[in-house]
Amino acid sequence: MPLIPARYGLAVILSALLTTINTSAFAADKATIKKGEQLYNQNCSVCHQADAIGKPGFAPSLTNPELLSISSDKFFEGTIRDGRAGTGMPPFSHLGRKNTRAIVAFLRSHTKLPNRSKEVDAQSQSHGDPRLGKQWFDDICSTCHGINGDGYAAGGTGTAIGKASFLNKASDGFIRETIKYGRSNTRMLGFSGPTAMANLSDQEIDDVIAYMRTLDK
Ligand code: HEC
Ligand code: HEC
Repeated sequence: MPLIPARYGLAVILSALLTTINTSAFAADKATIKKGEQLYNQNCSVCHQADAIGKPGFAPSLTNPELLSISSDKFFEGTIRDGRAGTGMPPFSHLGRKNTRAIVAFLRSHTKLPNRSKEVDAQSQSHGDPRLGKQWFDDICSTCHGINGDGYAAGGTGTAIGKASFLNKASDGFIRETIKYGRSNTRMLGFSGPTAMANLSDQEIDDVIAYMRTLDK
């Protein structure tokens, strides 16, 4: 009968080995998030606040569920690297790619919704009429985002959605989803459905996007 304990022993060793592999992979991930949290606290929390909850009219939330769900890593990393010219968001290219990725890992550790960024960025481009979109923009969006989408500089609570530094990094799908569904617990309510601030049709939303694409040119 000596074979049975031997086999049993092998199983124990194997399972112990697998546990070690698993926990070390997990530990590395946790370490990255921890590192990202430290970097966040050193570089970002002064504006984006503790836990990245944001502050109306000062800096947006970075842990908002809808934002995390539609933002690709490319969008996050690029925005952090380049900042947003013409706004209060400075560039952080000096942090380097690895540190930037750690910060994004920290932000993503707050995720509550599935990451839909691939599908969102693959959506069709807007086919809209910028002249019609301008009317909606001036009537509704400019209240918070400023008349040319200048953002906080115009005294509103919304970000600078008319600046090239935002528009060059955001896909039409990203903009469309944000207009439709908004961002929970911020002043950006969705514009789709009967409970919305204004119930815009898909075509009207595309008109607004087409107009936004003419700004800062
Ligand atoms: C001096 C203030 C300030 C600091 C420091 C700062 N930000 Fe920002 N950030 C802003 C502002 C203001 C905006 C919005 C700009 C606009 O109007 O588009 C912004 C926007 C962003 C956005 C885009 C969010 C969205 O809703 O699309 C990301 C991502 C971001 N910041 C990440 C960071 C990270 C990560 C750090 C630290 C490495 C950081 N920021 C540091 C002020 C700051
Ligand atoms: C009542 C104020 C308000 C109105 C009206 C409003 N927004 Fe916003 N919007 C915001 C705020 C606030 C944010 C950023 C959320 C945050 O601070 O975390 C935002 C974010 C956005 C973003 C994401 C920008 C980024 O930096 O990632 C887009 C796109 C946007 N709004 C488009 C629109 C459009 C188009 C309209 C008009 C149809 C509109 N918004 C109307 C307040 C508003």
